[in-house]
Amino acid sequence: KIINIILSGGVGSRLWPLSRKRKPKQYLNIFGEKSLFQLTAIRNTSLCDSLTVIGNTDNFELSSEALQKIDIQQYQQIVEASPRNTAAAIAFAAFSADKDDILLITPSDHLIEDEDEYARSVKEAINLAKQDSIVTFGLVPTKPETGFGYIQIEGNNVLGFREKPNLETAQEFLLKGNFLWNSGMFCFKAGIFLEELKKYQPEVYTMSEIAFNARIGDKLPIEQSMDIPSISVDYAVMEKTDRLKVVKSNFKWSDMGSFESLYYYLKNNGHPTDELGNMVIGSNIHTEFLGIKKSILVVTEDAILVLKREKSQDVKRIYENLPTIM
Ligand code: GDD
Ligand code: MG
Repeated sequence: KIINIILSGGVGSRLWPLSRKRKPKQYLNIFGEKSLFQLTAIRNTSLCDSLTVIGNTDNFELSSEALQKIDIQQYQQIVEASPRNTAAAIAFAAFSADKDDILLITPSDHLIEDEDEYARSVKEAINLAKQDSIVTFGLVPTKPETGFGYIQIEGNNVLGFREKPNLETAQEFLLKGNFLWNSGMFCFKAGIFLEELKKYQPEVYTMSEIAFNARIGDKLPIEQSMDIPSISVDYAVMEKTDRLKVVKSNFKWSDMGSFESLYYYLKNNGHPTDELGNMVIGSNIHTEFLGIKKSILVVTEDAILVLKREKSQDVKRIYENLPTIM
């Protein structure tokens, strides 16, 4: 059985104040009629046999509503008491499946165009996963982005995986030419993933298992969840495992993770910018920028953010230091 696992428990803190704890970016309609979450579910229905959504107490109702609106009735839900990052989230998904089930892990914050190429990549990944590989999807990098993971390749073999390098290292990778961006989607057998997690992050494995087994209905209990180490699957497993394979992919892909990527997406879709590369998001009030370049003004009803585009990755820190949860 092939199961699409949608990870939708992130708050999207780098897109604050557009993205909020109670309405994270994947449920917003900034990209058209459908949210990124809905587009993800639709994209994978014909490629998988079933769907499991891993979200948390703050957003699982948003997922249910969103799926209902696109007529998807059949799905499984796992509700985290609190986000413990992607290693644990994927562990829950794996515990809920049979060990030979193939999981197609998809984040819910991506925009993908070119569905045929996407389908081709997924099929290739499923075939590799059937042979017990942990499969990543690699995209040709176009800039030294520090918010992504990098897959080092030699021909079709993976030599290594490096999550979120600093700018200097990212520039080096780009020059070397044998690095691909990790798309953030993965494909593997549930049992193989759990084996690797147990090997490299035994604490996450054990504590996730305890929390999962203590679930009530589809909800995980807070007592057993809070102590699960918060680590992303990239650091926990992808940087360590020697089962890694990559499917080189050519689909048009954007991670709507930061204002930098949102800027380019919106710009390419006709959203106005001035000649110095400034943009206003969320307001039609006439705005002028003076002596300021490559900046974004983000306006919402109760919060405003002004940032230099190059600081996009640091919005997370603003979010983390807000005086009250917004
Ligand atoms: N259920 C659940 N619980 N989901 C989570 C949690 C959690 O605790 N934390 C994050 N997620 C979800 C997010 O909503 C998102 O859909 C996905 O998992 C990935 O998390 P991000 O926080 O967006 O990761 P990232 O963008 O920094 O990095 C990942 O994606 C990049 C490409 O977009 C990595 O895999 C990088 O290597 C990759 O390049
Ligand atoms: Mg992301």
